[in-house]
Amino acid sequence: MEDLKVVIGSDHAGYEYKEKIIDYLNARGIPYTDIGTHTKESCDYPEIARSVCERVLNGKANRGILVCGTGIGMSIAANKVRGIRAALCSDTYSARVSRAHNNANVLCLGERVIGEHLALDIVDIWLKTGFEGTRHKRRVDMIE
Ligand code: RB5
Repeated sequence: MEDLKVVIGSDHAGYEYKEKIIDYLNARGIPYTDIGTHTKESCDYPEIARSVCERVLNGKANRGILVCGTGIGMSIAANKVRGIRAALCSDTYSARVSRAHNNANVLCLGERVIGEHLALDIVDIWLKTGFEGTRHKRRVDMIE
């Protein structure tokens, strides 16, 4: 696994999975920054998405994880940020290929959509999978 520096954030609807993912990161000694939210009080996911994306772009982290109710709002917001390649994943195949082919630097998850154990499997695979480069680099460069 590459040297991982994770930044993670959620809104109120993704708070519980964020905490579960933090347990996963702690158990494996993976460094992370938790930019919130820290309660289940309603908050606005675009602000959380922006904070996570800024830390990925300025190098404070090399992977971002965003959780909201569906993952959709987070992924829409994150993909507005130039340089961010956010992948909304609800299955492990997409999680793996979003890294291997798309070099996704942000993972989005929907707490109201997928089960907790699937979410953790997705995180595990997404963090462990490297970018394959070659023809996929050319395509990612075209996006950039
Ligand atoms: C919050 O109710 C919900 O809209 C949000 O978590 C997310 O699902 C938006 O895409």
